[in-house]
Amino acid sequence: MNYDKYLSQRAQGLHGSLGKQTSVPIPGLINLGSGTPDFVPPPHVFEAMQKALAEQRIQYTAWTGIPELRAAIAQKLKIENGIEVDPNGEIVVTSGAQEALMAVLMTLLDPGDEVLTPSPHYDEYTRDARVLGGTLVPVATTPESNFTIDVAALEAAITPRTRALIVVSPNNPTGTVLPEATLKGIADLAQARDLLVVSDEIYEYYTYDGHRHVSMASLPGMRERTITINSFSKSFAMTGMRLGYIAAPAPLVEALLPFHHAMMICANVIAQYGGLAVLSQPRDWFADVLREYDRRRRLWMEMLDSIPLPYSEPQGAYYIFIDIRPTGLTSAEFVARAREEALLVFQPGTIGGGAGEGFIRGALTKASPEFDEGLARFKAFVSALLERQP
Ligand SMILES: Cc1ncc(COP(=O)(O)O)c(C=O)c1O
Repeated sequence: MNYDKYLSQRAQGLHGSLGKQTSVPIPGLINLGSGTPDFVPPPHVFEAMQKALAEQRIQYTAWTGIPELRAAIAQKLKIENGIEVDPNGEIVVTSGAQEALMAVLMTLLDPGDEVLTPSPHYDEYTRDARVLGGTLVPVATTPESNFTIDVAALEAAITPRTRALIVVSPNNPTGTVLPEATLKGIADLAQARDLLVVSDEIYEYYTYDGHRHVSMASLPGMRERTITINSFSKSFAMTGMRLGYIAAPAPLVEALLPFHHAMMICANVIAQYGGLAVLSQPRDWFADVLREYDRRRRLWMEMLDSIPLPYSEPQGAYYIFIDIRPTGLTSAEFVARAREEALLVFQPGTIGGGAGEGFIRGALTKASPEFDEGLARFKAFVSALLERQP
């Protein structure tokens, strides 16, 4: 039976990678491009979730999340991010940043509206805008500027249909951390052109070499026009718990709650207790995680330098954006051949839009010895490709 005629217009042309989602893992395959961190949060997080289960806390919570977690998030935002928010009215606990993004874009976009973001960017933004009948307008950044956005280019892309800017720093897939001066430039632009900014800060804890994460809402004049999105997925390796949050001015929270409710009602209650535990206890353990990710980052760069193959030096997040143009392959060809010939999995740079063509996304999320084996295979695979180049 052909089901096309039953599908909504918004479903046409989208696909859910069903084959990939149901495929059996191939023995020996190493995913060197994965977005899933490989550590686990400390035992007290699991204990808190087990306690919540033992106490049979399995009913709906408030749509906005349990009050204790909202209070802990507000405290974290104040101390770490310099953002003062009211836990009762300016925070919504969500099922990850993914749901947060969709709820926010549902609130902001009408069909035909545009939202701008520096590209390469997280691929979900495109789908979300499209599902809503809007358009994500990618504003290209270049390897020469380490994929930092040129504020003038962002400004040039604004049209009367532009409703908001999405900023993600540190960036997936490029690993770029926007300098404070650039963030201030974006903030000035948003204020001058009366736009909202959606700030996706889920990689905030992963910065290297002195690069520093700055929250958009902490900049002068930005608290009232920034929707901050964050998550427990990457910071605390809780991707499968599906827990995130939105912090925004109360009228915007009021406006987006119906969409959050339509999709989720509330975030998973057990996960909320896990999130509360992780925020309530000291988090010095994360320093070891960051040290290990930085070690892997250096090993990646050493290996690439030894080939040599160019790359964009990761300033943050846990990705390395590798320039595979010297191999003569496109991003898609490289990814397919690396899988087939070297049993290595990467993401093509094009997942984040056309500006990523000629690049692949590697990651720091695999532990040794697979990590070292993966790097060795990568080096052999690319060296052989380069030898065959004219
Ligand atoms: C930039 C960015 N935003 C949002 C998400 C979604 O994260 P979550 O697991 O919190 O839904 C991801 C996941 O990879 C991401 O890279």
